[in-house]
This record gives sequence, structure tokens and C-alpha cells, in this order.
Amino acid sequence: MDIEYKQFPTKQELYGYINEMLTRITQETCDSCAALANASALFKMEIPHTNWAGFYILKGGELVLGPFQGKPAVVRIAIGSGVCGTAVAQNKAQIVEDVHKCCNHIACDLASSSEIVVPIYADGAIWGVIDIDSPAPANFDEADLAGLQSAAKTIGDFLKNAK
Ligand code: SME
Repeated sequence: MDIEYKQFPTKQELYGYINEMLTRITQETCDSCAALANASALFKMEIPHTNWAGFYILKGGELVLGPFQGKPAVVRIAIGSGVCGTAVAQNKAQIVEDVHKCCNHIACDLASSSEIVVPIYADGAIWGVIDIDSPAPANFDEADLAGLQSAAKTIGDFLKNAK
């Protein structure tokens, strides 16, 4: 897949490119593992100051580690636990500016300072989350949220027909 590292003047333009590439990724295969692996690589490569990018998937009432790029991470997260489990419990995206001040944060990479978690919906129910960590404080804002919600929509639509 021909994806280049690019720099953009605004986050809106950055996520425009990311979502264009994500559409290509999800059109290339109907294999969910392959598409999500490439999506995690896309996020880590393109979103500035990112040290971990990937997916946690809701299985049997808990979140289980999915395809990702970054250091090895916790495999299972209970609903309500950590930033990811909180996103599912509250059915709401989470932006954490300083993970060291967030008592419910689960540390996977000690270098992480800020984090964004965005739910993915498939057929109206939460399927899992996109989780992205940064070593920079307050790296994520409403523009990242809007861009990643658009990515989550593309992924959720893809998952309806994926295997
Ligand atoms: N920080 C997450 C755990 C997963 S790692 O960031 C990859 C959390 O608090 O849910």
C-alpha cells in the first residue's frame, strides 16, 4: 500500500488525508485483522507525536487488545477500567491531557503523557475503541476527536461486511 508520511498545516487537512487513506485500506481487503493492522500503522505514522496507536475490541464483556503499533500492551481491560474501559462504560470518547493526573489510567508505555480514545460502533453497538497515546502533554484536542470519529465511522461501516 502506497502511503506516504506527510505534514499538513492543519489537523483538518491531516485527518482528511488519514481518512482518504483509511478508505483505501478498508477497500483493499475484507479481512478485519489486516485492515486494522494497516489502520494502526497509518495512525502511528501520520498523527504527530504518537508512541502507541491501535484497537481494543469488545469481546465477552471486556476489551481485548487488537492490532496496534507501539510497545506491547495490556491484553484485557475491564469495562469502566482505564481510559479505554471508561470510554465504553460512558459510551463517550475520552481526551486525557495528562495521563499522570488521571487516576483511572492504565500505563502501557511509561513515555505516554496524553491519550485519546474513540469508540467504534458497528450496527449501532460499541464494537471497540481506537486508542492513541502520545509522549507530548495535551497532544490531542477536538480536531483530533472529529478526525478520529470520522475514522471510527469508516471502520465501523467496514466491519459490518468484514470477516
Ligand atoms: N492507557 C490505556 C491502556 C492501553 S495503553 O494505552 C496501550 C487505558 O488507560 O485504558
